[in-house]
Amino acid sequence: MNQSRWKNSLNIIFLSIAGILAVVSIVVLMASGVFSRAQYVEPWQKSYSEKFDDPRIQLTAHALLAANGHNMQPWKIQLDADKNVFYLFADSERLVKEVDPFARQTMITQGTFLEYLRVAGDQLGYQTDITLFPNGEYDEQNLAASMKSKPVAKIALTKVEPQKNPLYEYMFLPDTNRAAYQKTPLTSEEVQQLLAINTDPDLTLTVFQEAADLEKLGAYALEGAKIESSVHRINEESAKIFRANEYDKNKYRYGFSVEGQGTTGIMKHIMQGLITLIPSMNNEESSANLYVNSTKTAVENTPAYALIISKDNSRIQQVKSGMLYSRLVLTAHSLGIVMQPPSQVLEEYSEMTEPYEKIHADYAPDGSTIQMFFRMGKHTKEFPPSMRRDVMDLILQ
Ligand SMILES: Cc1cc2nc3c(=O)[nH]c(=O)nc-3n(C[C@H](O)[C@H](O)[C@H](O)COP(=O)(O)O)c2cc1C
Repeated sequence: MNQSRWKNSLNIIFLSIAGILAVVSIVVLMASGVFSRAQYVEPWQKSYSEKFDDPRIQLTAHALLAANGHNMQPWKIQLDADKNVFYLFADSERLVKEVDPFARQTMITQGTFLEYLRVAGDQLGYQTDITLFPNGEYDEQNLAASMKSKPVAKIALTKVEPQKNPLYEYMFLPDTNRAAYQKTPLTSEEVQQLLAINTDPDLTLTVFQEAADLEKLGAYALEGAKIESSVHRINEESAKIFRANEYDKNKYRYGFSVEGQGTTGIMKHIMQGLITLIPSMNNEESSANLYVNSTKTAVENTPAYALIISKDNSRIQQVKSGMLYSRLVLTAHSLGIVMQPPSQVLEEYSEMTEPYEKIHADYAPDGSTIQMFFRMGKHTKEFPPSMRRDVMDLILQ
């Protein structure tokens, strides 16, 4: 073979490999839905609420950005005939029964929503008078039916002068950052500012930064992740709400996606495409490993933890804990601090009983209930927004 024929053959081989790679890349990116418009993040745009005339829908469009357990967004809104009144119901079709058997996280999630509603109300010029359980508390023996008939809150609006709420702009940032945080502890001013947010005598907020607490609470977070990822029925429940690609994210607009681990840009599409084409890549074992490893990295890079503890475990206290959590998230954002609640150890299913009891014996020995357990720190990496539903999907017709 002379030299030029040899070169030609090499060129053909090179071009063929490049061609195959190009085709594979296109197939992967198309499977991810690279050209789809991401409707599922539209509610994060500041102008999103302006599309609606009814102030109750405008406020709801803000509130649905709140942190919420498993990103289930279990909220239903009933507009009253009185145009200044509306009701929030917990959506009993959106419970995660394996991981949250008593719907405690679902109720905290009602509170996160209500606090966002309040902050948006200030900014838009509406005083929001919130009455919790205006028709009485749930019948716990018939919880799902009770959720349908009894509102969590009645919200009455009064038009007032718009007031610039300094927390407003932070509503448009994602509330949960699952990455490593900087090692720098929070300053005592920052801690004081965060602690001052709690004015409810039935709730206690404590921030922990001592080495012994970091070690103990980090160990609880890791143990919780290990136990949870080994429970098959919970893995199945989580897998059902995992949205593998842009098509699914636009279709459902709730649940989990690769953004939840901070993955963005071209890497997001490569991962989504591969998971869509080869679903076994995301099987129970590999997801469990990923989850435990990312929790390990998280706890090794956490300068502070905090607990919200309520005197009793009533539905009202659960909702109020969520309101406090949202206020904390927004204030933390204003201080450049991010948060993540590794809630597993607080979950009430049988496999978690031992660490649940231990963390309560350590940090809430008087019979009170730890409602929220979360990491705090300065971020090392910004997180992308997660899916949100169209506000009109929340409105009962
Ligand atoms: C009651 C409650 C429990 C949560 N538990 C966890 C958790 O165990 N691990 C976690 O990473 N995020 C947890 N989160 C955060 C949610 O997953 C998150 O708010 C949701 O996916 C939406 O994302 P965003 O907060 O970034 O908008 C929890 C949030 C709430 C309100």
